[in-house]
Amino acid sequence: MNRLADIGWEDFERLSFDAKRPYLEREEGDGLPYHTLFAQQFDRALLERLCALANRIRFINKSKEGALYLKNVLAHKRAMLYFSQPSSRTFLSHLAACQILGITTGSVRDAATSSEFKGESKEDSIRTFSSYFDMIIMRSPERGLAEKMAWELSNSDRPIPILNAGSGKDQHPTQALLDIYTLLRSFENAGGIDGKTVTFCGDLMRGRTVRSLSYLLTNFRDVKQVFVAPQELQVPADVVMILAKKGISFEVCDNLRDAVKVSDAVYMTRIQDEWDSSKGASAKIDTSRFKFGAEELKLLKPTGAILHPLPRRDEIATCCDRDPRAMYWRQMRNGMWIRAALIAATFGFERTIMDCGY
Ligand code: NCD
Repeated sequence: MNRLADIGWEDFERLSFDAKRPYLEREEGDGLPYHTLFAQQFDRALLERLCALANRIRFINKSKEGALYLKNVLAHKRAMLYFSQPSSRTFLSHLAACQILGITTGSVRDAATSSEFKGESKEDSIRTFSSYFDMIIMRSPERGLAEKMAWELSNSDRPIPILNAGSGKDQHPTQALLDIYTLLRSFENAGGIDGKTVTFCGDLMRGRTVRSLSYLLTNFRDVKQVFVAPQELQVPADVVMILAKKGISFEVCDNLRDAVKVSDAVYMTRIQDEWDSSKGASAKIDTSRFKFGAEELKLLKPTGAILHPLPRRDEIATCCDRDPRAMYWRQMRNGMWIRAALIAATFGFERTIMDCGY
C-alpha cells in the first residue's frame, strides 16, 4: 500500500524533499521505500540496509539451490520497464534484477511503439501498465514525471510502486545507489566512505547521476566533494546549496590533476550533449583537460577508485581499463545486485531474504 493517496498533487509537489519522504515509504512502517523517486529518500541507515541485502542476494545466488530459491521469492509479481529514453545498463540491470527474483517483465523502450504515439496521455499509459503489472520501472527525459506518475497511480484503483530509472537532467536514484554500493565495497578495508574525498569531473551541470550521488554522499561523515568541470558545465546551484546548507566541505575548480592527487575516488562523466540548446554547442567547449588518462592514473592514490556511470566516450582512456582501481565494470554488476535488493525491499521481502536458510 502507499501513503501518497493522503495528499493532493499540488500540496505534495510543493513540499521539500524531506517532507515528501514519508509519503513515499511503505505503509508497513518498516522505513523502506514504496516509490523510489529521488536520492533524498535514502539516509545512511537505509543505504547500509540495502547494501547488506544486495550482498546477501549475491551470496545466495552463488549456489544453484540458492538461485532457485531467489527465483521463487517474487515469482507472483510482474514488472513493467517503461523507458522512453535510450538505455543499455539501467534497462538490462533492472531486467536482470527482476529475473534473479523471479519477476516476469514487460517493456516499452520507445514511446513511438506505444499508444502514446496515437496521442494517449502519459497518465493513461501508466494506468494501462498498472492494469497488467505490479511495479513500473521508468526512465523519461521529463523532470519530475516519475513523481507525478507515482502520485497518479497511488490515487488510482491499482496503486503500484514506481522506480525512477532516470528523470531528465534531474535525478537517477538507483544509479546513485549502485555508486554508493561500489564505493562501500571499494573502501571495505579502508575505513568505508567516511572521511574520503570524492571528485566529480565532466558535465556536472546536466549529469543527473552527479546530483543524486552528491546528495547520497552527504549521508557519510567528513566526505569532501570536489567538482572539476569547464565553467559552462559546472555543478548546478541547487547541488551546491544543499552541500552548503548541510555544512559539507566542497570545492569547485577546473584542474583535474590537482584534484586527482588528493582524491580517494574520481567519478568521471560524459558530456551530455543530447541536452544542447543548439546543435553542436557542447563541441565548442574545451573539454580536453577533463579527461582521465595515463597521466592521471599515475597521480591517483594506490587505494583510489575510478568510477563512471557509463556510457563513456573518451573521458576515460582505455589504457586505464585493466588497472585494479578502475571500478566502472564492477559498478555495472553491482547495479544489478543493488537493484534486486531495492525491488525485493519495495515488495516487503527484505527480512524473508535476510533470514532465509541459504
Ligand atoms: C547515465 C544516465 O543515463 O544518466 N547512464 C546510466 O544510467 N548508466 C549517464 C549518462 O548517460 O551519461
